[in-house]
Amino acid sequence: MAGQAFLLPLFLLISLTCALLISCTTASDDDQKVYIVYMGDRPKGDFSASSLHISMLQEVVGSRASESLLHSYQRSFNGFVAKLTEEERKKIASMEGVVSVFPSTKKQLHTTRSWDFMGFLQSVGRKTAVESDIIVAMLDTGIWPESDSFDDSNFGPPPSKWKGTCQSSANFTCNNKIIGARYYRSEGKVGKEDFDSPRDSEGHGTHTASTAAGGLVSNASLLGLAMGTARGGVPSARLAVYKICWSDGCSDADILAAFDDAIADGVDIISLSVGGVIPLDYFEDTIAIGAFHSMKNGILTSNSAGNSGPSPGTISNFSPWSLSVAASTIDRKFETAVVLGNNGSYQGISINTFDLNNEMYPLVYGGAAPNTTAGYDGSTSRYCYPGSLDSTLVNGTVVLCDLLNDGEGALGAGAIGTIMRDSGFEDVAFSFPLSTSYITLSDGSSVAAYINSTGKPTATILKSTEIVDKLAPFVVSFSSRGPNPITSDILKPDLTAPGVDIVAAWSLATTVTGIEGDTRVVPYNIISGTSMSCPHATGAAAYVKSFHPTWSPAAIKSALMTTATPLSAVTNSDAEFAYGSGHINPVKATNPGLVYDAGEADYVNFLCGQGYTTQNLKLVTGDNSSTCTATNNGTVWDLNYPSFALSANTSVTRDFHRTVTNVGSPVSTYKATVVAPPGLNIQVEPSVLSFKSIGQKISFVVTIAATLSNDMLSGSLVWDDGVYQPFKRYGTIRAGTGSNKGGIGETPSVDKSKSSGETLRKPVDVDMLPKDKQYSTKSQPYLLEAQQKQPGPRASWNQVLKEGRAANHSAN
Ligand SMILES: *[C@@H]1O[C@H](CO)[C@@H](O)[C@H](O)[C@H]1NC(C)=O
Ligand SMILES: *[C@@H]1O[C@H](CO)[C@@H](O)[C@H](O)[C@H]1NC(C)=O
Ligand SMILES: *[C@@H]1O[C@H](CO)[C@@H](O)[C@H](O)[C@H]1NC(C)=O
Ligand SMILES: *[C@@H]1O[C@H](CO)[C@@H](O)[C@H](O)[C@H]1NC(C)=O
Ligand SMILES: *[C@@H]1O[C@H](CO)[C@@H](O)[C@H](O)[C@H]1NC(C)=O
Ligand SMILES: *[C@@H]1O[C@H](CO)[C@@H](O)[C@H](O)[C@H]1NC(C)=O
Ligand SMILES: *[C@@H]1O[C@H](CO)[C@@H](O)[C@H](O)[C@H]1NC(C)=O
Ligand SMILES: *[C@@H]1O[C@H](CO)[C@@H](O)[C@H](O)[C@H]1NC(C)=O
Ligand SMILES: *[C@@H]1O[C@H](CO)[C@@H](O)[C@H](O)[C@H]1NC(C)=O
Ligand SMILES: *[C@@H]1O[C@H](CO)[C@@H](O)[C@H](O)[C@H]1NC(C)=O
Repeated sequence: MAGQAFLLPLFLLISLTCALLISCTTASDDDQKVYIVYMGDRPKGDFSASSLHISMLQEVVGSRASESLLHSYQRSFNGFVAKLTEEERKKIASMEGVVSVFPSTKKQLHTTRSWDFMGFLQSVGRKTAVESDIIVAMLDTGIWPESDSFDDSNFGPPPSKWKGTCQSSANFTCNNKIIGARYYRSEGKVGKEDFDSPRDSEGHGTHTASTAAGGLVSNASLLGLAMGTARGGVPSARLAVYKICWSDGCSDADILAAFDDAIADGVDIISLSVGGVIPLDYFEDTIAIGAFHSMKNGILTSNSAGNSGPSPGTISNFSPWSLSVAASTIDRKFETAVVLGNNGSYQGISINTFDLNNEMYPLVYGGAAPNTTAGYDGSTSRYCYPGSLDSTLVNGTVVLCDLLNDGEGALGAGAIGTIMRDSGFEDVAFSFPLSTSYITLSDGSSVAAYINSTGKPTATILKSTEIVDKLAPFVVSFSSRGPNPITSDILKPDLTAPGVDIVAAWSLATTVTGIEGDTRVVPYNIISGTSMSCPHATGAAAYVKSFHPTWSPAAIKSALMTTATPLSAVTNSDAEFAYGSGHINPVKATNPGLVYDAGEADYVNFLCGQGYTTQNLKLVTGDNSSTCTATNNGTVWDLNYPSFALSANTSVTRDFHRTVTNVGSPVSTYKATVVAPPGLNIQVEPSVLSFKSIGQKISFVVTIAATLSNDMLSGSLVWDDGVYQPFKRYGTIRAGTGSNKGGIGETPSVDKSKSSGETLRKPVDVDMLPKDKQYSTKSQPYLLEAQQKQPGPRASWNQVLKEGRAANHSAN
């Protein structure tokens, strides 16, 4: 096949501020806290990590050293976990060989149709034998090994490169599909809902693993909904499971321990749908550290971008050496009809598997049914908080609530169904533990008026139906947005993949929602999050690797990004900050023509330019030649990244240096095609690249001159060798009006679900909650992301935070 075309989103960002108003907690001086001491690369040859670490600790904590040391990292990099006071932390931080010392905090978790929707049909060409040697590492909540998705019937023994292990037990065994499984719990004790093994009690890890690499399972559905063939991106690949997340979150110490093992175990790609919310320095973030050492060892790390959108600057996992994946819709949408006794009918959004057989039930307004003996009145019970409703009034009814909530309150009071009216986004459907439909405020007013209009109001809720969403794909409201909070001139996210209402395998140890009272145990479930889009990208990256086993992580990432399909700036008002290079296209990514490659040395140059010291970079790379000098002091604009970004306040001119490697036709000539809006001038020099061989590299310079108004400008650069130009019609241009309606090449259409502004984040006012439901946000700096235990509030992270369920979910 001849050459290909390339797309490089480009934006100029004007006076952007991204303040994240969450501060870290600090320990009092005599408090011991768990710290991670990161020491960079693993020393060459044999070394006794624990004796080194203990001797370091002895200098600081004396005889308490071995008791203080909780874990040594030694297989893939160097470092340890220890209990230290603030004073001791400072001493360790100043010791030779230490790159960084930072507290171990908790991070949070963030099919069928989805692969077809990506144009990645069951019939795509595959290198099955190579694919079968690919090992996909899932760092998640573990796995349900008996799921049909992990059937190993047609698999031979693990590839010979595999050096990992299976921590098997009476309750857990691996097979030739799941070739390895480990679990990490630095805190020791596990909650009573957790399995003390790699077994998944939550469903999340089973779901992500089957999305990335599950086998083909026909007739998979959630109780008849979304029926189809469930399959992963690389059904022939092997899975290595690293359980780092438990019912109370995912600790940094465990995340880093899993990276330490996975790299040494010989995996090919690492998938991690986990993140924090506070943007951290690259070497104080366990995921960025782990991904750096993965990259150094030829392993791409695929990360979820986070579920804190749609506000700007909310992205997590933004290191340039990893892939950051946003979440977008597929063309299947779930609607749930509410029918009233007066024959009024309203379509809401939810995943409702309950069938009420069209039977009409008494309809009650939550605000008219407070449990007064428990001290509630209508101003609270209207939100249907757990415990706030009077069960004698609500039992056996359909209850109307003024809040998108998880349904626990209505179910607990004996309701048959619940209608939730709220003003949030309607671009994602959630499951609830009882028959539920989520309707708009305007439809909600009609329902309320009907209740007032009659002495005996009645209603029923129908089972959900699947409709075709013609606006798809667009980046869903909850998907975290750029710009990159630490290095604003590296565009993040990198690309987007399906992450809304995805069907995949589930754990039989939980239920559809995980909420008390839900009795639906299912082998396949439908959930949403960047947690779900990340394993799609992981599967696609593994698929690319099966065609190009020698490609570097950066080359694979470049192939995925330059072949992604740009989305409409009309349905995606944040444009590249929402979707990066665009919607992933796994088949095209196997044949990108040219790649923007980068290796450790390129990232070192970049880090030098970011102000990291020679001393630390030598430790990180384990290479004494990694010194920062005036010559290798790379600016961010010269990192060989497959997208461009520039933040500036006024007029600006800037050069970007790039080098492309020919991986297409040996002899080919590519011409640059630039699309730029008024105010943005883009020059490419040279604008014609003539290649004579595979592997040949040619450098070019992109010069950008911009006169900035007060909005983001974006354009594109396509390298086209004349055979075909798949991206031409997609040039995304946004002139600086702020209305974001300036897209060309697409018919403007207004996406209703995107127009409701900030309401997704509208929190429940904490003061309205009963005292025992309140807690200080200070003690919980992280928002809950896509935890399947909280299906309702998954749409509304602040609400979960304030209700405190994230914090106190696990038993001790
Ligand atoms: C083993 O699994 C069974 C059910 O699958 C569960 O009841 C039991 O608690 C598990 N045991 C351990 C030690 O996890
Ligand atoms: C799938 O379900 C359909 C309809 O229920 C049935 O006709 C078909 O045989 C099933 N296929 C398999 C492989 O179970
Ligand atoms: C609702 O529709 C049914 C069937 O069409 C009809 O029998 C019934 O009278 C209608 N009820 C009202 C309140 O209009
Ligand atoms: C009201 O709440 C109290 C305390 O939670 C509970 O014991 C009681 O059963 C509730 N009453 C009704 C009618 O729901
Ligand atoms: C609802 O009523 C049924 C019987 O009519 C009873 O069994 C059940 O316990 C009641 N539920 C609640 C939550 O009060
Ligand atoms: C229903 O009646 C209540 C109390 O009379 C009133 O506050 C409310 O505004 C009415 N709702 C509608 C939608 O008419
Ligand atoms: C790097 O230099 C340090 C001190 O200058 C030395 O201790 C260390 O052995 C050197 N490492 C390598 C791999 O040469
Ligand atoms: C490299 O550049 C950065 C920022 O531009 C600067 O902080 C640093 O001192 C420079 N280092 C060297 C060795 O020139
Ligand atoms: C933009 O202006 C703000 C405030 O004057 C300043 O802090 C920031 O560094 C400027 N950004 C750039 C990219 O020049
Ligand atoms: C959470 O648990 C802590 C300690 O177990 C307790 O002090 C606190 O009140 C609980 N918070 C909530 C919201 O239940």
